[in-house]
Amino acid sequence: MNKIVVLTGAGISAQSGLGTFRDAGGLWAEDAIEDVATPEGFTRDPALVHRFYNARRAQAAQAQPNAAHAALAQLEAEYPGDVLIVTQNVDNLHERAGSRNVIHMHGELAKALCHACGHRWGAPLVMHPTDACPVCQAPAVRPDVVWFGEVPYGMDMIDPALSNADVFVSIGTSGQVYPAAAYAQHSRRLGAHTIELNLEPSANSRDFAEAHYGPATDVVPNWVARMLDCT
Ligand code: APR
Repeated sequence: MNKIVVLTGAGISAQSGLGTFRDAGGLWAEDAIEDVATPEGFTRDPALVHRFYNARRAQAAQAQPNAAHAALAQLEAEYPGDVLIVTQNVDNLHERAGSRNVIHMHGELAKALCHACGHRWGAPLVMHPTDACPVCQAPAVRPDVVWFGEVPYGMDMIDPALSNADVFVSIGTSGQVYPAAAYAQHSRRLGAHTIELNLEPSANSRDFAEAHYGPATDVVPNWVARMLDCT
């Protein structure tokens, strides 16, 4: 039985209207990473960080899954093997397209975390630094998103999945942030067939045995159709 691991990045949600990070005019052109995506930035100005994620949460709530998200959900439903999505994205478009087997290694906009007691709950659309944790009441709420310098989620599940993968597919990521940027090389070394589906060659395009370039809403449904044809 074939095991497929799919890594997704901001590029898969670009055609749903959600900004990517490093393309021209991307999120990191608007706000500095150190101000809005590090624990130090949050300590320095929690209101700025909450405003940044409140805006992204509102955009994500308005966005709709696109044909690439839908194709991956169809693959999970119809492929006679395991399909795991490891996403760097914090939106929930994979789930809203119908995918069930999803690991959010950088957290989720839809979740809040109390950095005093560790409690997690469904994030309200708008969060403020003065919001109290529903469990310990401390004014210590933050987005449940993994910032630079923090440990990504799900590594204990991701690493074994990469080791056992027959196919590793990377979609819509620039291959510049670790550990995700090393996944193709890691899985290839352990025998997986590696495929890059992206608008253009990523920083680690040489790690892939196969590549198809173009908008995700073209290249992902085409790839899924080929995978389902040969089952
Ligand atoms: N279809 C397919 N690929 C696209 C599309 C599209 N319509 N639009 C853009 N892309 C590609 C770009 O070519 C680029 O390679 O998506 C990639 C987006 O790269 P980044 O903006 O760097 O986003 P990502 O790789 O997901 O960033 C990884 O960095 O800042 C952190 O935590 C953040 O999860 C994020 C991580």
